[in-house]
Amino acid sequence: MPSNVPAIEVDGLTVRFPVRGGVLGKVKDYFTAVDGVSFALQQGEILSVVGESGCGKSTLAKSLVGLVPRASGVFKLFGKTVNGGMAGPSRVCDLVQMVFQDPFSSLNPRQTVTEILTAPLVARGVPFADAEKRALELLERVSMPAGSLQKFPHEFSGGQRQRLCIARSLMVSPKVLLCDEVTSALDVSVQAQILHLLDGLRNDLGLSILFISHDMQVVRALSDKVLVMYFGKVVETGNADEVLTCPQHDYTKKLLASVPVVKRFA
Ligand SMILES: Nc1ncnc2c1ncn2[C@@H]1O[C@H](COP(=O)(O)OP(=O)(O)OP(=O)(O)O)[C@@H](O)[C@H]1O
Ligand SMILES: [Mg+2]
Repeated sequence: MPSNVPAIEVDGLTVRFPVRGGVLGKVKDYFTAVDGVSFALQQGEILSVVGESGCGKSTLAKSLVGLVPRASGVFKLFGKTVNGGMAGPSRVCDLVQMVFQDPFSSLNPRQTVTEILTAPLVARGVPFADAEKRALELLERVSMPAGSLQKFPHEFSGGQRQRLCIARSLMVSPKVLLCDEVTSALDVSVQAQILHLLDGLRNDLGLSILFISHDMQVVRALSDKVLVMYFGKVVETGNADEVLTCPQHDYTKKLLASVPVVKRFA
């Protein structure tokens, strides 16, 4: 795969949700959650998507892994156009994995870590022993003890669970991670550990990361580029330093100005 081909290239991506009404719940209209979004995520790059709640960040990411249907637009993965969502010989989910905000609801409480981590490989026909070996390697990569394998999700802290979610997403050796508010549910010191882990994965494995966050401090610490969304549209995109220190669009200025400054109570 030539390194100058973007990991993800999106042109005019639009996602619409039906608005239902009346006694029979018929579709009355459509709500456009993502409206003609275009961007490129280069290989080995961390691109942050920012914007206020409800502007379409999660929907954008979900549409890339087929969790919500795309109404229109072109989506290219390493130069190849993706038409049929998750189907096809080189499936999108083999190359792109998504990690969600809430690490507890993302993990099946009835399964041990072994079952959780090995499932994606076993489902792809990999022998269990090989899948378990890889699970052990990845536990070490995300700084979790090997003894975690026999435990259940409730036996871990929030930060440890998020590490498990990241380990599970890496089991299929993806090239792209879509991280949707992965540090939002964590306290500041654990946030820093997860950010360090993601940066390490980018450097060591060459992963490309689409990082969704509303936390400007986190975005500043991690990103190469920033894409600002407002009501489903991209209003500004560019190098993180430039966008965060010298925003061009009024909305980006307001978004940065809205970062709360915490003062001591008198
Ligand atoms: N499955 C769905 N059906 C109908 N509307 C939806 C659906 N999912 C999202 N929406 C709507 O699409 C819009 C964008 O939602 P989305 O979850 O992408 O926002 P977001 O930017 O991720 O917000 P947050 O920062 O709060 O996570 C919202 O108005 C939401 O109500
Ligand atoms: Mg969201």
